[in-house]
Amino acid sequence: MLLLLALLLLCNNGIGDVEGSTIHDSSIVDLHALLDFKLGITDDPRGALSNWSNNTHFCRWNGVNCTTTPPFRVRVLNLSGLNITGKIRSSLGNMTFLAWLDLSSNNFVGPILTLDRLQQLDTLYLYDNHLHGTIPDSLTNCSSLALVGVIPPKLHFLSHLFYFNLSLNSIVGQIPPKLGFLSDLTVLDLSVNSLVGQIPPKLGLLSNLIYLDLSINLLVGQIPPSLGFLPNLAYIHLRSNQLEGSIPRELGQLLELKELFLSDNKLSGELV
Ligand SMILES: *[C@@H]1O[C@H](CO)[C@@H](O)[C@H](O)[C@H]1NC(C)=O
Ligand SMILES: *[C@@H]1O[C@H](CO)[C@@H](O)[C@H](O)[C@H]1NC(C)=O
Ligand SMILES: *[C@@H]1O[C@H](CO)[C@@H](O)[C@H](O)[C@H]1NC(C)=O
Ligand SMILES: *[C@@H]1O[C@H](CO)[C@@H](O)[C@H](O)[C@H]1NC(C)=O
Ligand SMILES: *[C@@H]1O[C@H](CO)[C@@H](O)[C@H](O)[C@H]1NC(C)=O
Ligand SMILES: *[C@@H]1O[C@H](CO)[C@@H](O)[C@H](O)[C@H]1NC(C)=O
Ligand SMILES: *[C@@H]1O[C@H](CO)[C@@H](O)[C@H](O)[C@H]1NC(C)=O
Ligand SMILES: *[C@@H]1O[C@H](CO)[C@@H](O)[C@H](O)[C@H]1NC(C)=O
Repeated sequence: MLLLLALLLLCNNGIGDVEGSTIHDSSIVDLHALLDFKLGITDDPRGALSNWSNNTHFCRWNGVNCTTTPPFRVRVLNLSGLNITGKIRSSLGNMTFLAWLDLSSNNFVGPILTLDRLQQLDTLYLYDNHLHGTIPDSLTNCSSLALVGVIPPKLHFLSHLFYFNLSLNSIVGQIPPKLGFLSDLTVLDLSVNSLVGQIPPKLGLLSNLIYLDLSINLLVGQIPPSLGFLPNLAYIHLRSNQLEGSIPRELGQLLELKELFLSDNKLSGELV
């Protein structure tokens, strides 16, 4: 009997905690955030969240992964392609250990959540939903924020890959000039949204940029000549906007340029 008690005590203090349902004080924040996230889900046809209940430790819930040592905090939330409908509630921002968030290919509606408290987030997949709203400023404040969308196989092996893909959503508002400060960005894909305003000249600071796709938006104004100073830029897709003026002669300096799609705009002038 004494031996059994000792074992139980060990279990309660040891690394194996997550096997039971003990919730550490500091990880109760994550429990509450997950339960609150579930409240935002209005349809879950495949029962993806059916085992999100207090019967088991939240680190065992479908799509959830935690740090391997106590306090067990949520590191991964992966609910990709589960046909879930709902809103992403702002309490998600309480899971401050979250590093990987994948909600892609679902029916999430509503504004893109504020991510400024997720300082450890390095991977974010939100593509193929029905999100709208402006690109939050806080998104450009996460220096380590890297991935949105699917990593194309060909780019997968590049070291320090930084990939930003919010295409196929309903994002409105302007492209934040601060995006220009994500200096490791190699892919920027904001195509098929409802972005307005001009292409920020500050995108010309993205010295590692290879792929730029802003097609099928409502962008106006001129193509910034600063894009011509990006030594690695190979793909410029700007078709189906309302861009005007002439094509900047600086683009002629792009030695790596492979694709330049400018159709269906209001461009004028000569090709020089
Ligand atoms: C998230 O954190 C805020 C601030 O600490 C708190 O007020 C709120 O109740 C938390 N939300 C949930 C669902 O726990
Ligand atoms: C689950 O546990 C949390 C924390 O103890 C509590 O706030 C919540 O009400 C519980 N939910 C249910 C459905 O019992
Ligand atoms: C929750 O559901 C997922 C997917 O069905 C499964 O892999 C996991 O083992 C379940 N967890 C528990 C504690 O039942
Ligand atoms: C959680 O981590 C384990 C071990 O690394 C892995 O096998 C599992 O696929 C992960 N699950 C999720 C939902 O990320
Ligand atoms: C997320 O889930 C998808 C589908 O189950 C899987 O292919 C992918 O590897 C998962 N990602 C992580 C980080 O666990
Ligand atoms: C998702 O749900 C819709 C109906 O809401 C259904 O028509 C569709 O087949 C589902 N897709 C998958 C992959 O389950
Ligand atoms: C950016 O991050 C810093 C430090 O965490 C914070 O003080 C600042 O308010 C953030 N700015 C925005 C726009 O989120
Ligand atoms: C961005 O994501 C969309 C939707 O999944 C995909 O079709 C597109 O190829 C991605 N863009 C890049 C540059 O990989």
